[in-house]
Amino acid sequence: MTFTWVLVAVLLTITFVWHRKSTAPARYLPPGPRPVPILGNVLDLTAKELWLVATKWAAQFGDVVHVHIMGQRLIFLSSPEATMELLDRKGSIYSDKPPFVMAGELCGCDDMVAFTRYGDKSKRQRRLLNQAFGVQVIPSYHPLIQSETHSFIRRLVADPSKYMDHLRRYAGGLTLSVVYGYEASPNNDKFLTLGEESVDILANKITSGGGIWPVDIFPSLKHLPRWAPGSSFLTKADVWKAKMEEFVDQPYNFVKASLKSGSYAPSFCSTLLEGERECTEQFEVDLKNTANSMYGASMDTIITSFCHFLLAMMLHPEILEKAQKELDSVLGPDRLPTFSDRPSLPFIDAVVSEVYRWGVVLPMSLPHRLMEDDVYRGMFIPKGSLVFANVWAITRDETLFPNASAFLPERYLEKVDPALAKRRDPRNYVFGFGRRRCPGVHLAESSVWLLVATVLATLDISKAKDDFGHPIEPKIEFNNAIFRTPDRFECNIHPRSEHSLKLVRETEGARA
Ligand code: HEM
Repeated sequence: MTFTWVLVAVLLTITFVWHRKSTAPARYLPPGPRPVPILGNVLDLTAKELWLVATKWAAQFGDVVHVHIMGQRLIFLSSPEATMELLDRKGSIYSDKPPFVMAGELCGCDDMVAFTRYGDKSKRQRRLLNQAFGVQVIPSYHPLIQSETHSFIRRLVADPSKYMDHLRRYAGGLTLSVVYGYEASPNNDKFLTLGEESVDILANKITSGGGIWPVDIFPSLKHLPRWAPGSSFLTKADVWKAKMEEFVDQPYNFVKASLKSGSYAPSFCSTLLEGERECTEQFEVDLKNTANSMYGASMDTIITSFCHFLLAMMLHPEILEKAQKELDSVLGPDRLPTFSDRPSLPFIDAVVSEVYRWGVVLPMSLPHRLMEDDVYRGMFIPKGSLVFANVWAITRDETLFPNASAFLPERYLEKVDPALAKRRDPRNYVFGFGRRRCPGVHLAESSVWLLVATVLATLDISKAKDDFGHPIEPKIEFNNAIFRTPDRFECNIHPRSEHSLKLVRETEGARA
């Protein structure tokens, strides 16, 4: 009797499984390199220039590639079609962020825009960002951008060897004035120092190497007692959290105090505080964290873009010359460029476009966490996968960008139909995708454009020379896991002429 029941149960199970297999859709994961048991593809990944590895996979397996690390699935999208379809059109399920226990919960970055999970909070933050940085609002920041650009050029002329310090000062000063209406003092400014320290902790400590800590994989580690071996990350987190809180609160308190006193420069925070009828606690938490997030988000991106511009000009003197000719013909000898010159300077626009494409600040963008199972072109992409847009592969696609490794601004001056022009505009890739697209895109665009135009109008850029006067070939290394920031390189920067030096000096004290 028992034997009969066991036999029936086995037969029923086989029938059920067979039936499910024959009726359920096939669930093929996207192709990818073969994993090893348990560890998965850990050995295939690299912290240095992972985008190069992912681009080789794309050539071998196609534009949607799957790998896994101990069960965590990673998907790499390497074509405009796949990124647009998944990250843009299906943005309602592809816009979440991975949970970071160390950065978010333990270091207090949970409310910062870059860490906010997709949902009500992220939508509230986005609304604030769009209100303050929408394309129609940007002209109101033009005078600030212009005066920060001129200060940058003056510092560069005074001491070109410190170009990196001047760039950091420029990017930090611009964000402090746009976001908080705060004008940084020329030396040792308290908020610039606080910003530098906080961004350094965030980029080089909390999120160094991709930001994954053992506690992110085994969250229960956060309950370790402080005396336990291996718990030192908890003590570090306490120190870093205190610094992050200081950085969120102090510039914000400055705006509130200035509003109270009635003496303030209009800014992101002042505009939104004045526009809010009832300033609830939640609104203030959203506002001060959104404001603070812009500082970190704009530093590395603007600095990296400018370094790629310097590199390109140093390596291509013929392009520098062509751009300067265009500027001279439009501006004449007696003035510096302003935003109203932009429509008359198509080659400068083309140089900026090529800087974005050739440099690619965030070559893998940032990971998008999939919130529900999905199927794309018959491939199964499971919920919880981290999806990366391989912007490097897209901007190296020879069918879109012939001779893709070369720096060729002329490629954007070719007359093509609007659909192709859109596919070839690197701005559609380098600023991210869909609901997660960079909210600072219009501010970044204006500030990078004026930097490039003003530097080209006033300065010459060339390779540094050794003691015998021979040009030094720059050795360019990319060691940051997330940003494609070149390591510091030597560069020769000097005024084009006595006359351009005079023009630069005349900007002193002349607020645009
Ligand atoms: C050339 C300069 C810049 C580039 C190339 C750039 C690019 C990007 C990219 C690729 C992302 C990630 C999108 C994603 O999550 O998929 C991003 C996010 C972000 N960017 Fe930018 N960005 C630049 C400048 C700026 C500036 C100047 C600001 C602020 C004023 C800014 C604010 C932000 C913020 C707040 C986020 C996080 C958005 C989120 O997580 O939802 N960015 N940016």
